[in-house]
Amino acid sequence: MTTIAIIGLGNMGKGLAKRLAGRSNLVLASRDKAAATAFAATLPAGVTVLDQDAAIAKADIVVLALPYAAALEAAANPALAGKVVLDISNPVKADFSGLTIGHTTSASEELQAAAPGAKVVKAFNTIFASLFDLPATQTAAIPVFVAGNDEAATAVVAEVVTLAGFAAEQTGSLDAARLLEPLGMLNIRFGYGLGHGTGIAPAWTKLAA
Ligand SMILES: NC(=O)c1ccc[n+]([C@@H]2O[C@H](COP(=O)([O-])OP(=O)(O)OC[C@H]3O[C@@H](n4cnc5c(N)ncnc54)[C@H](OP(=O)(O)O)[C@@H]3O)[C@@H](O)[C@H]2O)c1
Repeated sequence: MTTIAIIGLGNMGKGLAKRLAGRSNLVLASRDKAAATAFAATLPAGVTVLDQDAAIAKADIVVLALPYAAALEAAANPALAGKVVLDISNPVKADFSGLTIGHTTSASEELQAAAPGAKVVKAFNTIFASLFDLPATQTAAIPVFVAGNDEAATAVVAEVVTLAGFAAEQTGSLDAARLLEPLGMLNIRFGYGLGHGTGIAPAWTKLAA
C-alpha cells in the first residue's frame, strides 16, 4: 500500500486525512505533535504521527497541506528528492482578493524549482475543504484536476484522488497549474465574495456530440 504523508493539519490536511485514513498507509506531521496525536486518535487505526523529516522519509507521496509560503519553505527539504510531492495550494493574497503569482509561473512550478529532485503534482486546489466532510458518495463525481510533468506521479496522484472520494481529471503538464490556481481563486470568489458558500466546486460540462 502506498504511504502518504500529510504535512500540516489545517482544514485541508485534516479533511484529506479523514478521507484517506484506513484506505492508505497514512502518516501525519504537524508543528503541534500533541494536537496531531489527538486528531489521529479520531481516525481509523493505523495512522502514525511523526515529525516532518521522519514522515517524509517514510512516504511515497508527501502532501504539502500548507499555506503557499510555508509549502515553499518545506519544499527546500532535500529529503523530498525522489518523492511525489502533492501541491494543493492556491497562492492567495493575505486578504483573499487575488493571487500573488501567475500567468508566467505558478505555485506548483515554484515548488518544483525549490524541490528539483521531487515530482511535484498539483491537485485538490479547486475544491473547498468542507467537501471532505460530505459522504464520499456525494463527491465521487466532483472533478479534482491533476497536473504534473511525471506521468507515473500524476497516475499515482489520480489514485489518491479516487481513494479520497473524488474524480481525477488529468490536465497535462505542471504548467497547467497556471490555469488551475486562478480557477481555485474563482472558486474562492464564488464561495466567499459572491456568497455561494463552500458547498460548490468547478466542473466541466461535456455536451453530447
Ligand atoms: N481551505 C480550503 O478550502 C482550500 C481549498 C483548496 C486549496 N487550499 C489550499 O490548501 C492549503 C492549506 O489550506 P488550509 O485551508 O488547510 O489552511 P489552514 O487551515 O490555515 O492550515 C494550514 C496548516 O499549515 C500548517 N502550517 C505550517 N506552517 C504554517 C505557517 N507558517 N502558517 C500557517 N500554517 C502553517 C499548520 O498546520 P500544523 O499546525 O498542523 O503544522 C496549519 O494548520 C493552502 O495552500 C490553501 O491555499 C485550501
